[in-house]
Amino acid sequence: MSVSRPARATWLAALLRPDKSLARRLSAVLPRGLLARVLLILLLPLVVLQGVALQLFYGGHLDVISRRLTSGLAGDVGFVSVMVEAASPETRPFVMREAQWRLGLALSFEPDAALGPIPHRPAWMRLLPLESDLRSALSERLALPFDVDWHSDPNVIIIRAQLDDGVLTFEASRRRLITTTLYVFVIWLVGSAVLLAVVAVLFMKNQVRAIRRLAEASETFGLGRDNGPIKPEGAREVRQAAVAFNAMRERILRFVNQRTEMLAGISHDLRTPLTRMRLELTMLPRTPETEADIAALTQDVEEMERMVEAYLAFARGEGTEAARSADLVAIVSEAVAKARRSGATVELEMPEALPLRLRSDAMARALGNLLDNARRHARRIAVTVRPPAGAERGWAEVLVDDDGPGIPAAQRAEAFKPFTSGSATGTGLGLAIARDVVRAHGGEIALEESPMGGLRARMRLPV
Ligand SMILES: Nc1ncnc2c1ncn2[C@@H]1O[C@H](COP(=O)(O)OP(=O)(O)OP(=O)(O)O)[C@@H](O)[C@H]1O
Ligand SMILES: [Mg+2]
Repeated sequence: MSVSRPARATWLAALLRPDKSLARRLSAVLPRGLLARVLLILLLPLVVLQGVALQLFYGGHLDVISRRLTSGLAGDVGFVSVMVEAASPETRPFVMREAQWRLGLALSFEPDAALGPIPHRPAWMRLLPLESDLRSALSERLALPFDVDWHSDPNVIIIRAQLDDGVLTFEASRRRLITTTLYVFVIWLVGSAVLLAVVAVLFMKNQVRAIRRLAEASETFGLGRDNGPIKPEGAREVRQAAVAFNAMRERILRFVNQRTEMLAGISHDLRTPLTRMRLELTMLPRTPETEADIAALTQDVEEMERMVEAYLAFARGEGTEAARSADLVAIVSEAVAKARRSGATVELEMPEALPLRLRSDAMARALGNLLDNARRHARRIAVTVRPPAGAERGWAEVLVDDDGPGIPAAQRAEAFKPFTSGSATGTGLGLAIARDVVRAHGGEIALEESPMGGLRARMRLPV
């Protein structure tokens, strides 16, 4: 029967089409790590191949050898038994002596004895297939009742045959039946697999380390932290990826620098005309009709000034200020006092003093931004300064809590991004600047849910 062309094509296509569910099932079973996968890919075919070779070659080969050896021994035993049985009482010792040294069998005869019941042994103790081969060869060539004892002596096989007038016992060396090549082959199989595994682990560890380092560098850079270029290492492809990462990092840094410089330039240039506009507004003649417009305009100009200030602070990155020993508590009280002056209700809880190495102006701006956000979104604010203690040894904390609407957990990371603002008048730089400042101090800032119901900003600073 022949398969028609289109039918064969679909059959082939079905075979070649990657089976999604199979792939999914396979990847669920496969180990996740690269090292484990490579080991599996290397070792599995090797072990399977060697197992097949062992079965095909040695399975057949050993079978033949075992049958030949057992049949030789059974022939000797059968022949000697017949000779002993046929010999007269005078010639019997002579026959036994001759058999002993010419055939290498230790012989003894117990007159008038009978074979006892064969002791029962569990099946797993049998030296299959050698034991059954010997048994069937003996049944064929001895043709007398017999039993075989493999276990009384580890070096000897004891065969007992029931003669007419007693029991003839043979002791044959096990070496007549057992070949050691099988063990050599098994040791070679296991040894080569272990050797390959060791070499693969040693080699792959370096490759995996290089890939992992690249992944970590990309992750931290993606989170906005720059730890400098990475050293290309490992195989050529991994090096290539590292070089590409370094080039990309260069380009992104250059791009960000250009953008911030442009932002700084524009903000700086806008400051002077804005100041002039505010001055001119104060000098405008006021009439009852224009009063409201002038007030609104002044408010807009002030708003623009505030934004320009924020852009400038962001672009400058507060990089010029040097860290000095300063009192965190004093800076926090100053920022809180400023927030209270602009109408906020702030509870304050803090220790007497907490001296740290700080860039005071930058820190004041970061705290100001957090308090400004809280003031705009909530009615009550609580600020807590925690000195390093307990599990948080080595870290001081500043918590800014409010009772406002908070930020859903999924949007907290987004809120830190520069220029993302929920309000029309915001620059979206407040949190970005606060995070830059805290990170420049070696600390970290996180947004959480506040016990007051709103948002909690948690600043951690190394002591
Ligand atoms: N305490 C808070 N409660 C609720 N939402 C907040 C709070 N703080 C910040 N947000 C949200 O996160 C966004 C980003 O805040 P961010 O301070 O970075 O920018 P902004 O306040 O909009 O602008 P700017 O601070 O420059 O005036 C805000 O627009 C607001 O939607
Ligand atoms: Mg803000």
